[in-house]
Amino acid sequence: MSTQTPQRLLVTGGAGFIGANFVHYWLARHRGGRLVVLDALTYAGNRASLAALEALPEFRFVHGDIRDTDRVERLLREEDIDTIVHFAAESHVDRSIAGPDAFIDTNVLGTHSLLKAARAAWLEDRAAPAHRFHHVSTDEVYGSLGPDDPPFRETTPYAPNSPYAASKAASDHLVRAYHHTYGLATTISNCSNNYGPYQFPEKLIPLCLINLLDGKPLPIYGDGQNVRDWLHVEDHCRGIELILEGGQPGRTYNIGGGAERTNLEVVHALCAIMDERRPAGAPHARRIEFVRDRPGHDRRYAIDETRLRRELGYAPSRTFEDGLQQTVDWYLAHEDWWRPILSGEYRDWVGRHYGTARTASP
Ligand code: NAD
Ligand code: DAU
Repeated sequence: MSTQTPQRLLVTGGAGFIGANFVHYWLARHRGGRLVVLDALTYAGNRASLAALEALPEFRFVHGDIRDTDRVERLLREEDIDTIVHFAAESHVDRSIAGPDAFIDTNVLGTHSLLKAARAAWLEDRAAPAHRFHHVSTDEVYGSLGPDDPPFRETTPYAPNSPYAASKAASDHLVRAYHHTYGLATTISNCSNNYGPYQFPEKLIPLCLINLLDGKPLPIYGDGQNVRDWLHVEDHCRGIELILEGGQPGRTYNIGGGAERTNLEVVHALCAIMDERRPAGAPHARRIEFVRDRPGHDRRYAIDETRLRRELGYAPSRTFEDGLQQTVDWYLAHEDWWRPILSGEYRDWVGRHYGTARTASP
């Protein structure tokens, strides 16, 4: 059984980057229902990203862990949730290389805990109500492409290379199994690299932007020729909305931005915008520094989103160039959001794992 009209949502990881953008996106377009955020507020979660929504009658924030199955089951019943949108995860590849355990705990065991709670609340002791469990996943489960390989399709075999990617692949398989075995109405989306407002400054774009503002080097791993397919977070949110409203239970959908760029191209584009916004006498690109490569660094990701376009009418609405300008302007206007992050746990972690030379450290 599935629902085509989500009314009462549980959004896990809604204080993180994409989750927070999704909550803003959804509540701007869907009023009168319910949206409960469940977030453990790890280093990556920031309740300030949701501050503007706290007063809305539809909105509730619950500080809690997806691994607490009983609590999640109670929450699903208490709030009469019909749709779970599951973002909560450990999401940073470099952290998964330095310490994989948290990725297994949250991404694999946490997703399984959530599936168990959903099954108990929706399928076990009452006539199955209309429901949907949407799992947000990544293109990294498909592995790495060569320069001339066709982009990832939903049928591309899984070949995860980092502990992060492997943990997401495992969670995808569990979601699939709960549909096949128990009849849970699941959907999965595998998307490419997101960028936009509220992104934690350990990821390439906000890290380099903030380093530029603070006069620090821009660390480029390896030769800078690794390619990612950049997706503006608002287009990602639109893709998820389409899947919630019309996606077929049991089905997977790829979401991409149609913007393959090398890391060096991305950082040069960022520097060019900063040359206009904050002229510094010399080009900002002079701060680029090539540093030790990420172990097992995937060379290229690219997404074929034909299924989502054909079946559900998806199309990205922004070019990468427009989206990057909007993102830069958001960070310039919201130093009060990102500056406090730099003085907390993030700085400690970077110091422990990388020292100060490799990446943004305040
Ligand atoms: P993020 O790291 O910014 O946020 C993760 C959120 O999950 C945080 O708010 C954190 O507090 C919360 N969380 C972590 N463990 C939790 C737990 N045990 N219980 C409850 N909450 C917990 O991540 P993001 O970049 O917003 O990514 C969201 C999802 O999208 C992830 O599943 C990620 O794998 C996937 N994804 C991200 C990208 C990207 O480019 N950022 C691309 C593809 C897929
Ligand atoms: O493809 C989707 C994935 O995109 C998501 O599943 C992950 O959650 C998300 O973190 C992102 O993973 P990446 O590893 O691609 O993102 P990141 O911003 O860490 O790195 C982007 C590219 O830039 C990658 O090739 C590594 C490189 N890089 C990154 C950092 C942080 C650098 O060259 N220097 C850096 O300092």
